[in-house]
Amino acid sequence: MRVIGIETSCDETGIAIYDSEQGLLSHALYSQVALHQEYGGVVPELASRDHIRRLIPLLRQTLEQASTRQDQIEGIAYTSGPGLVGALLVGTSFGRSLAWSWGLPAVAVHHLEGHLLAPMLEPEPPTLPFLALLVSGGHTLLIRVDGIGQYQILGETLDDAVGEAFDKTAKLLGLAYPGGPALERLARQGDVGRFRFPRPMTDRPGLDFSFSGLKTFAMNTLRDGQAKGLSDDEQFRADVACAFQQAAVETLAIKCRRALQQTGLARLVVAGGVGANACLRARLDKLGVDLGVGLYYPRLEFCTDNGAMIAYAGCLRLQAGQSEGPTFNARARWPIDELTALSEV
Ligand code: KG4
Ligand code: ZN
Repeated sequence: MRVIGIETSCDETGIAIYDSEQGLLSHALYSQVALHQEYGGVVPELASRDHIRRLIPLLRQTLEQASTRQDQIEGIAYTSGPGLVGALLVGTSFGRSLAWSWGLPAVAVHHLEGHLLAPMLEPEPPTLPFLALLVSGGHTLLIRVDGIGQYQILGETLDDAVGEAFDKTAKLLGLAYPGGPALERLARQGDVGRFRFPRPMTDRPGLDFSFSGLKTFAMNTLRDGQAKGLSDDEQFRADVACAFQQAAVETLAIKCRRALQQTGLARLVVAGGVGANACLRARLDKLGVDLGVGLYYPRLEFCTDNGAMIAYAGCLRLQAGQSEGPTFNARARWPIDELTALSEV
């Protein structure tokens, strides 16, 4: 089955074509980073308008790259939540209309299910069941995955998502949006031993997270430095970035260890934008070796938002007979544990 996947939940327009026999045929992404950079964050209305501009050219490009004609497409998948409601409406209405006009089945995909399943596009995909650490700009979740659509949330953040904490701390450090990758680059010059930030909520049982205090800790450390005339000191800024990253990564690793030990699962999937962080990958690889657990990541470009993961997740659901009626729905909030398991479709 050959499926088009459409992603517009935030600030990237992604389109991809996935074939259940031949794998991923093509994918294209348009990032709106430059558009939002001067505002220091995503402006929802600008995001929606830009998705409208990009979808049709990107669709043409992916069809051409996949050497695929319209009559070879058998289904359309689009992200219908969670995310920015205006941005989601663009993708859902486009996807649903395309399916209607081409006479094809359409399926609404959960953005986080897309992230979770992204490592399945790699040459050595994980087998079920597995533990998933989903770390993005909007979510920090530990999920037990027993099957497609069988997701049990074991832990989640009580306040900021880890990506959000990276972005906010990066902003405090004067780095441009989106700050996560920029903070990682700055931290490379940092001295690990200069500051020690707390590892929030690791001193009590449970698998939930809290990252807003870490950002405040960074703010206070920067203020102390300012008072000592260190604001323009590159080494000082790099040391703060390094301490923040170290604390965020160590906190995630402590909770992953706990979840793996509690569940006895032998595979850990890491997905979402922060999964691109090299320091996190190195730390979790080490944990995997210590515990004898296999680690699975999507390729770097599929850690952040993309159409390929949506085409893949949508293809699985369409193949199982799931599809939407001739209506569409954009869901700003959509708990992942409310999804239908594929066996129940
Ligand atoms: O998955 P994603 O593209 O979008 C959401 O669904 O939220 O994740 C974006 C988040 C942003 O907060 C971004 O700063 C963070 O992922 N991110 C990183 C890195 N690359 C992206 N954070 C830390 N290190 C990175 N290398
Ligand atoms: Zn995402």
